[in-house]
Amino acid sequence: MNVLIFNGSPRKKGNTEILLNAVTHGIRKNGGREEIIRLADLAISPCSACGGCDKTGKCIIQDDMIPLYEKIDQAERIVIASPIYFYGVTAQTKIFIDRTQAMWSRKLLSASSKQRDEKPKRKGFFVSVAATRGEKVFVGASLTLRYCFDAIGISFAEELLVKGVDKRGEMAEKTDEIERAKEFGHQIIK
Ligand SMILES: Cc1cc2nc3c(=O)[nH]c(=O)nc-3n(C[C@H](O)[C@H](O)[C@H](O)COP(=O)(O)O)c2cc1C
Repeated sequence: MNVLIFNGSPRKKGNTEILLNAVTHGIRKNGGREEIIRLADLAISPCSACGGCDKTGKCIIQDDMIPLYEKIDQAERIVIASPIYFYGVTAQTKIFIDRTQAMWSRKLLSASSKQRDEKPKRKGFFVSVAATRGEKVFVGASLTLRYCFDAIGISFAEELLVKGVDKRGEMAEKTDEIERAKEFGHQIIK
């Protein structure tokens, strides 16, 4: 099984990347394969609310988001990862998420309301890290991700959330969390 992973952290060798490497280890060890896409390497413009997708189900902005729509459509498992920035996801992740509005519009145009309510077999996962240990530190981002997976027609399955990591690479020292991430990778392809 192939897993499509979006990394929304702009920081190379950062905590999200280290955590995702452990998730990948768990995926591969159990026979899966993955493709990791670093959103910060792509040129994706924000949604301009032009309303074009309301009529056609397609986004009119011709940029690096266009090939991602097809990849998302084909994926059985999708992971969206982002560190917490101001109690939400990073700007790169949010821009990507907003552009999935075209997939929501497409769903509204093509499916009957009964079909829309059916739980899809494809599964979505959220991975996140945060510097602080606040009780609600992941609440906003987690809600955003749930709505995004709904828009793209994927059931929200599980999330892997790690608090208390801030400096670049600090994640590597959290051996318990690394083991948890490997197991999370296994769960993704189960
Ligand atoms: C602009 C910015 C905003 C941040 N906002 C928060 C926040 O609201 N809460 C928090 O716990 N950490 C916050 N952080 C810390 C990051 O979540 C933390 O450093 C994380 O480990 C970064 O992951 P990365 O190395 O994958 O980029 C923020 C960091 C930056 C750069």
